[in-house]
Amino acid sequence: MRVFVKAGRGDGLQVVAALEGDAKPERFLPVAALRDRELGRLAAGAGFRGAANETVLLPRGPQWVLVVGLGKSKDLSLERLRQFAGTASRAARSRGFRRVVLPVLYDRALGPASGVAQVLVEGALLGLYRYDRFRRLPKHERGKRVDALTIVVGRSSEVGEARRGAEKGQILAESVSFARDLINGPSNVVTPTVLANEARALARRHRLSCTVMPFARLKRLGFGGVVGVAQGSAHPAQFIVLDYRPSRAKRTFALCGKGITFDSGGISLKPAEKMEQMKYDMSGAAAVLGAVQAAARLRLPSRIVGIIAATENLPSGTAQKPGDVLKTLSGKTVEVINTDAEGRLVLADCLQYAKRYKPDCVVDLATLTGACVVALGGEAIGLFTKDEKLAARLNEAGKLTHERVWRLPLWDEYAPLIKSDVADVKNAGGREGGAITAAKFLEEFAGGLPWVHLDIAGTAWVDKDKPYVPKGAVGVGIRLLIQLMERWR
Ligand code: BES
Ligand code: MN
Ligand code: ZN
Repeated sequence: MRVFVKAGRGDGLQVVAALEGDAKPERFLPVAALRDRELGRLAAGAGFRGAANETVLLPRGPQWVLVVGLGKSKDLSLERLRQFAGTASRAARSRGFRRVVLPVLYDRALGPASGVAQVLVEGALLGLYRYDRFRRLPKHERGKRVDALTIVVGRSSEVGEARRGAEKGQILAESVSFARDLINGPSNVVTPTVLANEARALARRHRLSCTVMPFARLKRLGFGGVVGVAQGSAHPAQFIVLDYRPSRAKRTFALCGKGITFDSGGISLKPAEKMEQMKYDMSGAAAVLGAVQAAARLRLPSRIVGIIAATENLPSGTAQKPGDVLKTLSGKTVEVINTDAEGRLVLADCLQYAKRYKPDCVVDLATLTGACVVALGGEAIGLFTKDEKLAARLNEAGKLTHERVWRLPLWDEYAPLIKSDVADVKNAGGREGGAITAAKFLEEFAGGLPWVHLDIAGTAWVDKDKPYVPKGAVGVGIRLLIQLMERWR
């Protein structure tokens, strides 16, 4: 997609924003179209009220104008603008337009043109995302694609600033789309080997260093958590380390991602219903790959080490079994109560491995528990840490990106639930507080690290289209991580 930033007027379908209630669309029109009262009358005549994400396409002389509702002015926010841009560009595409023009909107609630341009590009590009690798588009979508987006500002003095924002938005959206492709990809295509190859390709493209340790090596080196999960699978596990290391880096971040390319549950087999969705159990890994890529393209001033354990979780004659005891990379032993609690096993080794980088901050991302889906649903990422400052930072980053987090307790009173009679710890603590006991398990292996765990099980996949998230993979966590890392001081 080509993205342009211009002052005045752009080429393509003109999009106009309108607020609900006070019906003053002219307040937000780009300069060239300012005070177009006729347009307001036409929209109202068509029954348009300006509700959030409402659209109406109107003829205006030789051209078409798409009017998109912004909702009430008191609810105006950058998130509303992402949705506005997603709704507008999708509506434009479905009506066959190839070029879309979005206005930078001015309001105190929205801040400078750079931030507005950024979220407009994010919303438009992410809204237009489609996963079509394995299908012919249905007739009503066929041949329809938007290939140019123009962001229009009011004053030419703002073009430079808006362009910087737009570029950032494009890098973020492309990194998220990259992650979505990996997550939407079926597990027979996106294997652990493919994830490793994607990491290598990123390394070549952005001059990162990449180390991949395949199954045999992991066995030799004592990655007992990964090996336990991987031993039932025909596809060899891959432990992936992707290192973005700018010169004179001020800090080091380690990002750990759960990369289960398919989670059948293993011997503790899951029920068939919705099992096909378990290809998204590598969403944490995809977020790590997307975040490292975005960080490199944005030239963040910190070292960022992505650490990914990629494997399937399948039953077979060589699979691990309930009651098995394994020795993790840390030396701690684990009794495997339930082979479906596999994410924490592979993450235990990732967290241990992260220690060698002496990071200033470690974030792990994982579609870790069904319990988190039950507790928080699809709108909030489960956040676990004992570090108040880190919790506050992520909370702030969550609000700005609308990838919101909600903190759950990591109190030590929960620790007895994962005590084992035969090993140092067991991998399942029963039904009560399932997201919390999973986090307590991880904490055992994060000892001494400034660490936060993000459970993205509920937020990584959507079953219904949203304005800038078509159903399927969300690519959640990338914008959140970049926001966290770039503002660190
Ligand atoms: N990948 C699943 C968690 C999950 C469930 C993610 C639903 C997305 C949607 C994880 O590996 C798992 O199976 N967790 C178990 C743990 C239990 C056996 C202790 C769970 O949540 O049921
Ligand atoms: Mn599982
Ligand atoms: Zn899983």
